[in-house]
Amino acid sequence: TIVDKGNHRHFMAKEIHEQPEVVSHTLASFIDMVGETIRLPENLPFDWAALSRVTISACGTASFAGMIAKYWFERYARLPVEVDIASEFRYREAPLDKGGLSIFVSQSGETADTLAALRYCKEQGQHTLAIVNVPTSTIAREASVMVRTLAGPEIGVASTKAFTCQLAALAGLAIGAGKARGVLSAEEESELVHALIEAPRLMAEALRLEHEIETFSRDLAKAKDVLYLGRGTSFPLSLEGALKLKEISYIHAEGYAAGELKHGPIALIDETMPVVVIAPFDTIFEKTVSNMQEVAARGGRIILMTDEAGAAAAAMTTLKTIILPSMPTILTPLVYSIPIQLLAYHTAVIIGTDVDQPRNLAKSVTVE
Ligand code: G6P
Repeated sequence: TIVDKGNHRHFMAKEIHEQPEVVSHTLASFIDMVGETIRLPENLPFDWAALSRVTISACGTASFAGMIAKYWFERYARLPVEVDIASEFRYREAPLDKGGLSIFVSQSGETADTLAALRYCKEQGQHTLAIVNVPTSTIAREASVMVRTLAGPEIGVASTKAFTCQLAALAGLAIGAGKARGVLSAEEESELVHALIEAPRLMAEALRLEHEIETFSRDLAKAKDVLYLGRGTSFPLSLEGALKLKEISYIHAEGYAAGELKHGPIALIDETMPVVVIAPFDTIFEKTVSNMQEVAARGGRIILMTDEAGAAAAAMTTLKTIILPSMPTILTPLVYSIPIQLLAYHTAVIIGTDVDQPRNLAKSVTVE
């Protein structure tokens, strides 16, 4: 099949805009829409209830999807998760229990380090489950269970729609695991599934903020360094936000857990460094607000991504705010990915880089 850009200037723009649709397809592949239950892959060779932990390995953006999933598996399935980037994991000789579960996340299914991590786990007697976008790939073939993301071909080197589809699949697995382990009741399962079904609509709403986000990009385009902060699942999302910006705009960016601000990055704050804060109004929102105050007190320029309640509670005049719809906590990584991606995309367009083919980067890294 030949993939074109449609009405978009870049593949990346097209892929960002496709997300409500492809996430919806991915969700439909494992959700029973009527019963509001998760349909786990059939004939799994392991029993979720018998697992004492899960290991997740991946590279780049896929590894951040894995980090977000850690929060979900621990919270919704009370299943301890260890996440590692595949290039570290493969050489670490990690001790693994026979019969345990390792999950691999990869858009291409060909990333050399992720494949090596998979082979290591198989040798250790682990069950292997791969979340892949290319069903004919090596990782898809070698894993004992394949879970497909239905993102369709992703051409832009910087991953966007594959990432949110990975999140959708991982959220589904975590809820399914929670149910299978007796952690979630049928009501809780259906509540979470109901929330997931809303994701595409909320993502479409977030896309409508594009023009506003573009104006913020003008400011970001002048920066030399940008800091991204978040707590909970917004922490790995802040890592992804920083990665997106560096990959395509070549502006140095760092993602940090907001609580770690005082242990280092606060030393960098001045009027020249924009700080992007990802903070939906949730149980840890107030903690992030105090970090924002620390930034503001040092003249830092804040771009806050939140919702109406968060904007009201932050009550700070010195910041720029991107207001998203309010939503159940499980959805925030999926929906906040949109402004994160748009901010990086428009910044790169303003700077004039080759957005779809950034220098020195490859779509699929099949060599070490
Ligand atoms: C490369 C790509 C990234 C991607 C990473 C992992 O670095 O540029 O966008 O996240 O590889 O790729 P995978 O195909 O395993 O998801």
